[in-house]
Amino acid sequence: MANVIPNLVTERLLLRPLGLDDAPAIQTVFPQWEIVRFLASHIPWPYPPDGAESFLRNVALPGMAAGREWHWSLRPKTTPEQLIGVISLLVGEKNNRGFWIAPEWRGQGLMSEAVVAVTDFWFKELGCDLLRAPKAVENITSRRISQSSGMRLVGTETHSFVSGEHPAEIWEITAVEWRARKGTT
Ligand SMILES: CC(C)(COP(=O)(O)OP(=O)(O)OC[C@H]1O[C@@H](n2cnc3c(N)ncnc32)[C@H](O)[C@@H]1OP(=O)(O)O)[C@@H](O)C(=O)NCCC(=O)NCCS
Repeated sequence: MANVIPNLVTERLLLRPLGLDDAPAIQTVFPQWEIVRFLASHIPWPYPPDGAESFLRNVALPGMAAGREWHWSLRPKTTPEQLIGVISLLVGEKNNRGFWIAPEWRGQGLMSEAVVAVTDFWFKELGCDLLRAPKAVENITSRRISQSSGMRLVGTETHSFVSGEHPAEIWEITAVEWRARKGTT
C-alpha cells in the first residue's frame, strides 16, 4: 500500500508533502549560504542546477514511498502557493529531523510551529520512541528550537557540515517526555 503522507496545519503554516513539482521552488530558494552553512556535508555545494530535482527524484520521494522519510514544504496560509522552507523526518539512529526556512521568513517563530507539528506526527502517528537531532554548536537558532521544544543535550561530536567540520551537539527527546510536555500522558 502507498505510504500516504498527510498535509499538516499549524496556526500560520500549511505543511504539504514534497512532490516533484516542488523542484523549481526549492531550486530557487534553497541554494543560499545562510541556509546550507550548517546542513550536513552530503548536500552538494555549489548547488548544481538540477540539485532540487535530483534530491526529490533520488532521495526524498523514494524515501517517502518506502516509509523511511517524511518531507513537507512550509507554506504561509496567506500565500499557500509560496514554498518558504522544508521540514523533514528521517528514520535512523542519529538524525531524525531536519529543517530550513528562507532568511526573510526567520525570527517569527514559524519553524518552531512546524517543529511542533512534525514532532507530534513522529510520536503520535508514527509511534516512534525517540527523536534525535544533531546540530552545529554555532547554530544558535536551531539550538534554541531544541531547547524550547524540551529536548535534552546528550553529547557533543565533530560533524561535517557544508561549511566544514564543526563541533555538533546531539539533542534528543523521548515519546514519554514529549507527551508529558504536551499534557497528553
Ligand atoms: C534554524 C532555522 C530553521 C530557524 O528558523 P526560524 O523560523 O527563524 O526559527 P524561529 O523563529 O521559530 O526561532 C527559533 C528560536 O530562535 C530564536 N531566534 C530567532 N532568530 C534568532 C537569531 N538571529 N539569533 C538568536 N536567536 C534567534 C527565537 O527567538 C526562537 O527562540 P525562542 O523560542 O526562545 O523565542 C533557520 O534559521 C534556518 O533555516 N537556518 C538554516 C538551516 C539550518 O541551519 N537548519 C537547522 C539545521 S540543524
